[in-house]
Amino acid sequence: MEFSWLETRWARPFYLAFVFCLALGLLQAIKLYLRRQRLLRDLRPFPTPPTHWFFGHQKFIQDDNMEKLEEIIEKYPRAFPLWIGPFQAFFYICDPDYAKTVLNRTDPKSQYVQKFLSPLIGKGLVALDGPKWFQHRRLLTPAFHFNILKAYIEVMTHSVKTMLDKWEKVCSTRDTTVEVYKHINLMSLDIIMKCTFSKETNCQTNSTHDPYEKAIFEVSRIVFQRLYSFLHHSDIIFKLSPQGHRFQKLNQVLYQYTDTIIQDRKKSLQTGVKQDNTQKRKYQDFLDIVLSAKDENGSSFSDTDVHSEVSTFLLAGHDSVAASISWVLYCLAQNPEHQERCREEVRGILGDGSSITWDQLGEMSYTTMCINETFRLIPAVPSISRDLSKPLTFPDGCTLPAGITVVLSIWGLHHNPAVWKNPKVFDPLRFSKENSDQRHPYAYLPFSAGSRNCIGQHFAIIECKVAVALTLLRFELASDHSRPPQLVRRVVLKSNNGVHIGRGKGNR
Ligand code: HEM
Repeated sequence: MEFSWLETRWARPFYLAFVFCLALGLLQAIKLYLRRQRLLRDLRPFPTPPTHWFFGHQKFIQDDNMEKLEEIIEKYPRAFPLWIGPFQAFFYICDPDYAKTVLNRTDPKSQYVQKFLSPLIGKGLVALDGPKWFQHRRLLTPAFHFNILKAYIEVMTHSVKTMLDKWEKVCSTRDTTVEVYKHINLMSLDIIMKCTFSKETNCQTNSTHDPYEKAIFEVSRIVFQRLYSFLHHSDIIFKLSPQGHRFQKLNQVLYQYTDTIIQDRKKSLQTGVKQDNTQKRKYQDFLDIVLSAKDENGSSFSDTDVHSEVSTFLLAGHDSVAASISWVLYCLAQNPEHQERCREEVRGILGDGSSITWDQLGEMSYTTMCINETFRLIPAVPSISRDLSKPLTFPDGCTLPAGITVVLSIWGLHHNPAVWKNPKVFDPLRFSKENSDQRHPYAYLPFSAGSRNCIGQHFAIIECKVAVALTLLRFELASDHSRPPQLVRRVVLKSNNGVHIGRGKGNR
C-alpha cells in the first residue's frame, strides 16, 4: 500500500505549521466576531447613522466631509457610534452634559490615537496617564506662569513683525493675495523656539526649517488616515505598507530636529557657554525646567522623557496655534464689518503698535470675542478621545461599559444646533458677557476642560491676540473667493490648500 504524501517525514512540519496557522486564524476570527457582537450589544441603545456592514463609516470619515458631520449632529445631537470597519467603533459625543461627564473622570487617552502618535511625540504630557502624568504636569506648569508669559509678549511681537514685513514684500512684488498659513506656521515655530527653548533659529527667513514643517504636515495626514483605516491598525500591515515606510522616514526628520535642540542646550550647559538670550533671561525656560526636573525620589527625567516632552511641546505649542491664527484672519477677512471694529479697537489701544503690554491685551474685548468665535466655528483641535476604564453613566441614564473609546467631537459640540443658535454663522456677540453667562460651561471647549485641559492655552491666546492685533494695524484683509479653504480633519484642523487671504483696498 502507498503512503499518502502527508505521512512522509518531510511533509510533517509543513502539515503541523499549516494546522497551527489555521487554528490561530480561527481563534483570531472568533475573537473578532465576539468583539463585534459585544460592540453591537453595548452600542445598541444609541441610534447609529446609516452604515456599511464591512466598512462602517470609514469612507465618510476619510472624506473629511464636515457638512455631512453637521448633518449627523443635527440628527443625533447627543451622541452616536461611528464604525471603523466591522470590528471597531468609536462613540462620538457632542452634547455639553455628556462632555462634562467624560471630562470630569480620569479615563486614559485613547490607546489608538496615542499609539499612532507616539512615534511622533513619544510619551510626553499629551500622551501620559496616571501618576506619571500628574508628576509631569506639576513640574511643567510653572513654565506657563503669568509672569513668564508676560515676558513672552515682546518676543511674540518681534516674530509677528518679521512675518508682516515678509507679507509687505510679497504684496509689493506680486499679487495682493497671500497664502498665510505657511507664513504663520513658521512664525509660530519661531515663537515657540524662542520662548520655550530660548533658541534663535531665524526660521522665518531661513528655509532650512521647511523639512520639519513639511514632515509634520505629512505625518499628521498619515496618522489620521491610519486611525480611520482599520486594516492599518495592525502594526505589521502598517509597517509593510508604503505609508508605513514613509512614516518611518518622516519620523527620523522629526526626531533629529528635536534632538538637535536638546543636544545644543546640553552642550552649552556642559561648556558653561551661555547662548545670547540665555544670559538675558530672567526666568527658567521650558527646557531648563525639563532638564533640571526631579521626581520625588530625586531622579532626573530620563533622556527618553526629555525627548518626549520637548517634541510634545514643540508640536503642540506651534501647530495648533498657527492653525488658529490663520482661521481667525480668515474669519475676519470673511466678515469685514467685524474686522473693522477690531481694527478700530486695536488702534485705540495700541496706537501704531510699536510695543504691546499685558494690560493692553486684556483691553481688547471685541477682538477677543472674534477670536473666541473663531475658536468655536473652526476649533483647531476638532476632537479628543478617551478609553473608558470603568462603566460610565450619562446624566440621562444611558450607560457605556468599560473599554469603549469615547470621542468628544469639539467640532460637533461647537456646531450643535441644540446648543448654539445658527451655529454656522460667525457672531462674536455670542461671547459678550451677558450671552456667555447663560451658556452651559461645557458648551465651548476649544482647550478642553478639567484636569487635562490645555496647559498652553494662555500662551496660545496671547500669541493669537498679538498676531491678530498687529496684522490688523498693517493690513486690510479680504477673502479670496477663488480659493476657499478645504478643511481636512487631522489631529489639528487645517486647510489642505492653505488659507488664502487678499489685501483689501484700504492702505494701512
Ligand atoms: C489655539 C491653540 C491650542 C489649542 C486649540 C489647544 C487645544 C488643546 C486641547 C483640546 C487639549 C486637550 C487634549 C486631550 O485631552 O486629548 C490640549 C492639551 C494640551 N495642550 Fe494645547 N492647545 C493649543 C495650544 C497649546 C500650546 C501653545 C501648548 C504649549 C505651549 C499646548 C500644549 C498642550 C499640552 C502639553 C496638552 C496636554 C495637557 C495634559 O494632558 O496635561 N497647547 N490642547
